Amino acid sequence: MPAFDYKSGELCCEQVPLAKIAGEVGTPVYVYSRGEIERAYQAFDAALASVPHEICYAVKACSTLGVLGVLVQLGAGADIVSIGELYRWLKAGGSAEHVVFSGVGKTEAEMRTALEAGIGCFNVESAEELELLARVAASLGKRAPVSIRVNPDVDPQTHPYISTGLKQNKFGVSMTEAIPLLRDPRDGIEIVGLDCHIGSQLVKTAPFVDAIARLVALVQQHGIRLRHVDIGGGLGIDYGKGDGAPPSPAEYGAAVLAALAPLTSRGVKVVVEPGRAIVGAAGALVTRVLYRKRNDAKHFTIVDAAMNDLMRPALYNSFHPIQAVRHADRATVTTDVVGPICETGDFFARDRELPELEPGELVSIGAAGAYGAAMSSNYNTRPRAAEVLVAGDAFSIIRSRETYEQLVANERL
Ligand code: LLP
Repeated sequence: MPAFDYKSGELCCEQVPLAKIAGEVGTPVYVYSRGEIERAYQAFDAALASVPHEICYAVKACSTLGVLGVLVQLGAGADIVSIGELYRWLKAGGSAEHVVFSGVGKTEAEMRTALEAGIGCFNVESAEELELLARVAASLGKRAPVSIRVNPDVDPQTHPYISTGLKQNKFGVSMTEAIPLLRDPRDGIEIVGLDCHIGSQLVKTAPFVDAIARLVALVQQHGIRLRHVDIGGGLGIDYGKGDGAPPSPAEYGAAVLAALAPLTSRGVKVVVEPGRAIVGAAGALVTRVLYRKRNDAKHFTIVDAAMNDLMRPALYNSFHPIQAVRHADRATVTTDVVGPICETGDFFARDRELPELEPGELVSIGAAGAYGAAMSSNYNTRPRAAEVLVAGDAFSIIRSRETYEQLVANERL
């Protein structure tokens, strides 16, 4: 059963009508289905069940404590890209041991904090980073567990802003540069893994398989010993554009495990870092229609959410499904769904055929669980939206709407 569906003409998250949440919490509000997060996580877990594996949820996709808490309870590890994310993960009850730390720009202070916390692995992205990490770890009398992130130079066939595995991208080290780093024994470092992450919102398994084949060849040709191989995240979700569904976690699992067989048969553990595929479909942004207007060229539906709440359409021109919360037979109109911010980029949909929406009525912007709330901002001094977690017929506020006082709390005249 989908996480968001109509019951008696009312769009619900699990058993809770979105109108009930909006009535109590106000709009705009992010609503997440706990059941859908669990289902997606378990689908990954089942897809990789035939080998030792670890699912390190990419915290950046949705880092609200209440969502992280669900992942902690499911037994997930975490892929973090800052000490701020480690702070959140530990606060949500996660353990440091199951954390991998990615990112091209880890600072010395971040390395120290992560070492002191005892994280599972540093995914190192350059020779200079490895050098510094070795020094910091040695100064603490520790050995940092390290995986080298390679850039396999494969085209993930996704939006250029979220392609990461091409040689013109800033991520990882080249296959040739990786060899000495993987071999080089030095104080303060223990090489435990090899990793890659080639991009996000991938809708085919072929780029994953190509990247893995290159990693496997590197390991085999150079006799590299590893405890784990981390193939990153990147599996796409269906945004309802009608251009075909991406592979399911089961299809993804079958494809990547076949490619990884030369390593897993030697006992190498598989690590994955999915973000979007775990939380994307589980979240919607619920907003209220303020006004409609038509000019010579267009019809506009103005809602109370804006690009500061969900910036994906503005940043990537991305498509999100939009539904009226109240289902009724009515005429449709081709409209631009836009927010109140004074930028033409402040839109959620362009030239979309939707049921004619009236002022005051609620609209759900779907598939917004990943990179929605997490990328929201206070632009235009707009308090960030409240966030709600639904489980069955109950819901709880996992983040209250910000107050104006909170917005200026760190400022001085
Ligand atoms: N691992 C690493 C090292 C990453 O950089 C990312 C995402 C992930 C895992 C998780 O990827 P996922 O499974 O979610 O595709 N803001 C963009 C997406 C940026 C992805 C950045 N890296 C968007 O809204 O589409």
